[in-house]
Amino acid sequence: MQVIIVTDYEEMSDRAAGIVTEAVRRKPDVVLGLATGSTPEGLYAKLVQAHKEDGLDFSRVVTFNLDEYVDLPPDHPQGYRYFMNEHLFNHVNIDVANTHVPDGRAECLSSQCERYEQMIRDAGGIELQVLGIGRDGHVAFNEPGTSLGSGTHITALTRETIEDNSRFFDSPDDVPRFAITMGIGSILQARRCIFMATGANKADAVKAALEGPVTATVTASALQMHPDTVAIVDEAAAAKLDLLDFYRWQQDNWDRIADRL
Ligand code: GLP
Repeated sequence: MQVIIVTDYEEMSDRAAGIVTEAVRRKPDVVLGLATGSTPEGLYAKLVQAHKEDGLDFSRVVTFNLDEYVDLPPDHPQGYRYFMNEHLFNHVNIDVANTHVPDGRAECLSSQCERYEQMIRDAGGIELQVLGIGRDGHVAFNEPGTSLGSGTHITALTRETIEDNSRFFDSPDDVPRFAITMGIGSILQARRCIFMATGANKADAVKAALEGPVTATVTASALQMHPDTVAIVDEAAAAKLDLLDFYRWQQDNWDRIADRL
């Protein structure tokens, strides 16, 4: 895994936007895996800016979101379809038919999970997957204990996740208890991943994910098994990493041969 330490949220968003922009330019029909949460908001704002100011073309881009709450109405402001529309899709020239978010209101949730996996396969798989991390080390909604081989599945949310996400709802009681999420196995099949983390409240999770043992207790740790992941972590989130100096040293050296990579 390549670990890039950046100063702050702004720089993290810039670095991530640079990677996504390049992927879209190189392959206009690229299949992107997208995440929600406050972490990627800055990235999406920069993609909107790249579209408006530099004509970044999303007309053939295909997207799959990681997850969605079960049973929120489609127009609920905390639903992930709504989030994506607000932060990205409504502001770029993407074809809404090419954007996919799991349907948390499906009559049969397990067939919705199978269908979602199939749709990703039919699209040729995800080329570039954007990821954040929860305080308990989860990616998407793969809570502690989720199989590291899991495909898209239904999950119950932990108390910690409900509490964390309650800041977006009127009260913790309004946070859905269940979600559909791409599994760790699904995420590991993406050809490249960008993992982003920001803020001191993520420092323990980042330490466990990047330097701890690979374990289902911290599902983000499975990214250590992924052959092409770049972790973009700001100073505050990186504060507990043992190899912090090494990552910086390595990054300086990489930058010296960047034009030959
Ligand atoms: C939710 C999402 C995750 C996200 C996490 C952290 O649980 N399902 O994809 O990474 O929240 O969110 P934030 O970036 O707001 O800290």
